[in-house]
Amino acid sequence: MAQAARILKTKVGIIGGGPAGLMLSHLLSKSGIENIVIEMRDHETISNTHRAGILEAQAVSMLTDSGVEGRVLTHGDEHAGIDLRFNGESHPLDFRELVDATVTLYAQNEVFVDLAAARARDNGDVRFNCEVTEILDVETSTPKFRFTDAEGTLFEVHADVIVGADGSRSFARRQMPDSVKQDFKVTYPFAWFGILTEAPKSSPELIYANSPHGFALISQRSETVQRMYFQCDPNENVDDWSEDRIWSELNQRVAGPDGFELKTGPIFDKTVLGFRSFVRQPLSHGRMFLIGDAGHTVPPTGAKGLNLAFADVKVLFEALDSFFSTGSGKLLGGYSDLALKRVWKAQNFSYWMTSMLHTPVDADPFMAQRALGELETVTSSRYGQQYLAESYTGWPHS
Ligand code: DHB
Repeated sequence: MAQAARILKTKVGIIGGGPAGLMLSHLLSKSGIENIVIEMRDHETISNTHRAGILEAQAVSMLTDSGVEGRVLTHGDEHAGIDLRFNGESHPLDFRELVDATVTLYAQNEVFVDLAAARARDNGDVRFNCEVTEILDVETSTPKFRFTDAEGTLFEVHADVIVGADGSRSFARRQMPDSVKQDFKVTYPFAWFGILTEAPKSSPELIYANSPHGFALISQRSETVQRMYFQCDPNENVDDWSEDRIWSELNQRVAGPDGFELKTGPIFDKTVLGFRSFVRQPLSHGRMFLIGDAGHTVPPTGAKGLNLAFADVKVLFEALDSFFSTGSGKLLGGYSDLALKRVWKAQNFSYWMTSMLHTPVDADPFMAQRALGELETVTSSRYGQQYLAESYTGWPHS
C-alpha cells in the first residue's frame, strides 16, 4: 500500500534552498510569514559549489539590511572598476567615477553559507537532502507539493503559495503546462574552464580579456586565493589540463606589449562551466512563482545570475507581503511582468558582454574584428564606459 504522506501546513512552500530560496525565506520569516524550504542537495555540496563572485551593492544591502551576518562586509572586497583588455592592452573602467557605484567580490557559496546560518539562527524550517516528487493544484488557492526526506519518509506541503527556486534544471518549472509557457534560449559554442589557485593577486581589479586565443577572466577570492576562467570547448575534460598547460593558456590570453604576466600557484579546483541564455515566460502559473535560475539563466560574463535572482526575490517578497497582509493578489499578479523587465535587461547585458569578449573557435574574421571595434567604441567614449558601468553595477531595483 502506498505510504500515507505526513501533512505540513505553511503559507509559502519554497522548492530550492540555494541563495534565492533562502533569501526569500529569510525575508518572509522576518515579516512573520511562515514558510518551509525544501532542498535536494546537502549543505556541504552547496557550500562547495563554486559559482560567480560579484554582488551588486543592492544585493549586499539585501543581506546586511535584513540582518544576515555581516561577513560580506568583513570578508568581501569592494571593487570600483574592471579592466577590459583587448589587443594586449588594458582599458581600466572606474565605476565610482563613471556612475558613482561599486560592486563587492564575495563568492556565491559564501552567500549561501551566510543565509543558511541566518535561517538556522532564526529557527527557519529548511530541509536539505529532500526530493520534491510532485507539485499539485497550483491552479487552485490550495497548492501542494510532495517530497521525500533522506529516510524516505513522504511529506505533503499544503501552502497558499509555492515558489520554484530550484535552479537551472528546475523541477517546478517543468510542471507548467505547455499551453501557458514560452521558452527563449540561446546556446553558445563555448564554455568556461574555471580554476581556483593558491596565488597572490595578479592585478588590483578583475581583468576581462578578449584575445585571438579566446576569452579569459582574471578574478579573485582573497589575498592568497584567486579565481580565473578561460573560454574552452563545452566538452573539454579537466583531466587533460595540467597546471602548466592551464597557465600557458591563461597567460597567452592576457599577454601584451606591456609584458603583463599572471602570478601563478598550485591549482586546487578545475571545473568546466557550460552556459546558455534562457528565459521562461511567464514566471508564474496560478499560485506557483519562479525565481532565479529556475526562471532564467544568463551566461556568466558580467556575473548577473545571483544579482538577478535577488532582484526577483525582492519583487516577489513585496508581492507576498502585500498578499498576506491585505489579501490582495494585485502585486502577485504583476510579479512576472515586473521581474521580466529586469531579466531581459540582464539578458541583453550578459549576451552583449559574452559576444563582445569571446571569439568562437571558427569565428568569422569579420565578426572577430567587429567585436574589437565594439570594445574600442565602448572604452574610447565616456558614454560607452558609463553604459557598461551602469549595467555591471546594477540598475536600481524596482
Ligand atoms: C566572477 C565570475 C564572473 O562571471 C564574473 O563576471 C566576475 C567574477 C568570479 O567568479 O569571481
